[in-house]
Amino acid sequence: MNTPFDFSGKTVFVAGGTSGINLGVAHAFAKAGARLAVISRKQDKVDAAVAALQTHGGEVIGFAADVRDCAAVEQTFKDTRARFGGIDVLVSGAAGNFPAPALGISPNGFKSVVDIDLLGTFHVLRSAFPYLNKPGASIVNISAPQAYVPMEFQMHVCAAKAGVDMVTRVAAMEWAQAGVRVNSVTPGPIDGTEGMNRLAPNEAMRQMVAESVPMGHFGTPDDIAQACMWLSSPYAGYVTGVVLPVDGGWSLGGLSASAVGMKKAFAGGPGRS
Ligand code: COA
Ligand code: NAP
Repeated sequence: MNTPFDFSGKTVFVAGGTSGINLGVAHAFAKAGARLAVISRKQDKVDAAVAALQTHGGEVIGFAADVRDCAAVEQTFKDTRARFGGIDVLVSGAAGNFPAPALGISPNGFKSVVDIDLLGTFHVLRSAFPYLNKPGASIVNISAPQAYVPMEFQMHVCAAKAGVDMVTRVAAMEWAQAGVRVNSVTPGPIDGTEGMNRLAPNEAMRQMVAESVPMGHFGTPDDIAQACMWLSSPYAGYVTGVVLPVDGGWSLGGLSASAVGMKKAFAGGPGRS
């Protein structure tokens, strides 16, 4: 999509920016002229994402780091500043998910998702703050509609993402005086992504999900990217602390219907799907 946004001369850091929605967001900012830094756990994914993002012609760097390791995350911001100077836009979207009934989630399974999504978001924001170009910086957390719509087989994700949106709101209040805006985007079901492949692993479940969206179809990573760019642009200069659904209306009521397929998958008990 052609975009009205211009991020020439700006540095954008995307945590978890090496695949799926977040990589789509990184591509959109790179196309709009930004310098990019991306991080995720796996060096091979980082290398592939850096190479793909460089095709837009701008400078791109990437680092392997687990958002559960605050010191490792901090180092990536230091290294980004050493190369690019301060950061103008932070998109924080590293996450983990698997569908499972509450009784099929071990304490370590629940902890893993909370540690990546919620604690990881805190690590990323806390580590980024000293390196943000203030005033004027924008932070966008990639959350999920499960943050405010309870969804069966997603207790761990619902709890973690609800926490992410509270991190957004409190950071928006605490950092407003420094001129840093903080918002969340909650994507609907986005086609071809790891998250959606896990929640709807076959065609019948995919169709159920698509039908549960009032607009009747899946979204794309670019739908999410356009919202992130708007939130990080001067057009949204008075917008902070917002949790913005970009979901074709999914969170208005269809989310629960999407779980029907999972209900069938777990009909035999609380084991792995
Ligand atoms: N059902 C139930 N429990 C599961 C599970 C499933 N489908 N998948 C993993 N778990 C449990 C594991 O059994 C383990 O618990 P245990 O030690 O009590 O057995 C726990 O979760 C951690 O698993 P592990 O594979 O060691 O964790 P990890 O830190 O390497 O990976 C995950 C984290 C589980 C979230 C993994 O799926 C991941 O890396 N996801 C990233 C990609 C992704 O989820 N993308 C979609 C984003 S929305
Ligand atoms: P994805 O492709 O799996 O993206 C997750 C990214 O985070 C990857 O780059 C992954 O790379 C990285 N990551 C995972 N664990 C990490 C960790 N511990 N430390 C650092 N990086 C880590 O999944 P996606 O479906 O596109 O989801 C992206 C975001 O959108 C997530 O926040 C998700 O909750 C949200 N979302 C997705 C949907 C959807 O329809 N897909 C809907 C609503 C919300 P590595 O494996 O290399 O670490």
